[in-house]
Amino acid sequence: MRLPGEYSIARLAKKDAQAVSSLEAECFPTCFGPAQYAAILDAGENAPLRVFGLFAPNGKEGESLAAYVSFALHPAAGEVEIHNIATRAGHRRRGCAEKLLRLVLAAAAALNLEKVLLEVSSGNAPALALYKSLGFTLKGRRKGYYAQSGEDALLLERPLCFLP
Ligand SMILES: CC(C)(COP(=O)(O)OP(=O)(O)OC[C@H]1O[C@@H](n2cnc3c(N)ncnc32)[C@H](O)[C@@H]1OP(=O)(O)O)[C@@H](O)C(=O)NCCC(=O)NCCS
Repeated sequence: MRLPGEYSIARLAKKDAQAVSSLEAECFPTCFGPAQYAAILDAGENAPLRVFGLFAPNGKEGESLAAYVSFALHPAAGEVEIHNIATRAGHRRRGCAEKLLRLVLAAAAALNLEKVLLEVSSGNAPALALYKSLGFTLKGRRKGYYAQSGEDALLLERPLCFLP
């Protein structure tokens, strides 16, 4: 991929709450506010909901978060559920989201989990292309799930028996 090596990856902490909240607000119609993120990111090392970010080099204060992924571990079910993933507009098509998804896949495999699940709108072509490229396949559909657009929600699954 074209992702420059100087991007760095890190688990987000309470200090990143404002940055991740504003990136989420740029990319999604609904989002967690800074206070909600502060609580999520302050929940401790073993909290089931984890958020990782990719930081661009030389970013100005508060603007260096290029992408993030949030996911929940469900060890009893053998699953990981991706809640959200987004890349800031100026950093897209450089491999940021792929890098973060590969991190989730590796973390899940290291915990001997069996699969990664996520939900995506049927009209979200960039996200569908991303997930397909990493081996996710369609497992279910909720017709007309998104009220505003009328689009279906697609449930995608990626088994962890292989890493491409
Ligand atoms: C979907 C999204 C996260 C992709 O982020 P990204 O960092 O640009 O993705 P990557 O650069 O890692 O792309 C990896 C691969 O995914 C596919 N892909 C990503 N964006 C694509 C697009 N706009 N069109 C076609 N394929 C795309 C390609 O196969 C790409 O590989 P390539 O660039 O070598 O062709 C980004 O467009 C985004 O933030 N969208 C808004 C938020 C969102 O919809 N999130 C998903 C919610 S389910």
